Amino acid sequence: MRCRKCGEKAVINMRQHRLALCKEHFLEWLPEQTERFIRKYDMFSHTDRLLVAVSGGKDSLALWDVLWKLDYQADGLYVHLGIDQETGYSDRSEDYARKFALERNLKLLVVNVQEQFGESIPQIAARSRRGQGKVCSVCGLAKRHIFNQTAQAQGYSALLTAHNLDDEAAFLLSNTLDWSLPRLARGFAVLPAAPGFARKVKPFCRFYERETAAYAILREIAYVPDECPYAIGSKQLFFKEDLNRWEDEMPGTKLRFYLNYLAALDEGVFPERQEEDEVLSGKLCSRCGQPTTAGELCAFCRMFEE
Ligand code: FES
Ligand code: ZN
Ligand code: ZN
Repeated sequence: MRCRKCGEKAVINMRQHRLALCKEHFLEWLPEQTERFIRKYDMFSHTDRLLVAVSGGKDSLALWDVLWKLDYQADGLYVHLGIDQETGYSDRSEDYARKFALERNLKLLVVNVQEQFGESIPQIAARSRRGQGKVCSVCGLAKRHIFNQTAQAQGYSALLTAHNLDDEAAFLLSNTLDWSLPRLARGFAVLPAAPGFARKVKPFCRFYERETAAYAILREIAYVPDECPYAIGSKQLFFKEDLNRWEDEMPGTKLRFYLNYLAALDEGVFPERQEEDEVLSGKLCSRCGQPTTAGELCAFCRMFEE
């Protein structure tokens, strides 16, 4: 397989685009495409202060690297969840994020859940009625809260996550099977700010996971190699594997699924985007000041009370 641009040996073949590229041209192509998506979806500009949610994994570090190369003002935020004390999953992930930031002279904010709030995520899950199996839902709630709060408190214009097309297609498949229209109505690449909620943007949403992974490897970015131990066996991974099987048989399936969905969103096929229930309720948490649906405390602050 030869690079379409220069005829050298290709390192990647993107069948859905009928495009094979060598290392040099692939490392040019991915940031160029990112820039194209940023403009196409009106994501942000060079004067915006951006906050990237960084996990220490390949996708988020690749995203931060691309933004850095493209000269955007992007700081990182790492949330230390206290996961897997024995193998130090969270500690190791933090090290990768810190090293990455240091090498590029970028600013990394770190929030340590246990130090700041008194308990780690697995500890909260273990004592709550949700049980150990629900670490992921506690984790998701905590991350959403902390990312949102930090972005707003520190005046960032947008919160960026490194969701890729595989993530978006799995989300889409799962919610389509459930016909969950309110969730399907919220799958935009850009979610505008709402009272109490930061603007949320996904600049990598049109890249396949193998492309962002290839970028991280070819750029020699050091990232935490293992998945979070709690992600193993998740519904999300199950759908991703199925989608990959379909993709093998019919290249471009994932991309069509997602792009046609975005087009349907634009055409108003789904109901109007509903504001979050928390916004509609108009109530604020008495502890952290973030929107809440009912009662004194928001869902995050309540976790520490249970
Ligand atoms: Fe949240 Fe694994 S990253 S449970
Ligand atoms: Zn080339
Ligand atoms: Zn709260």
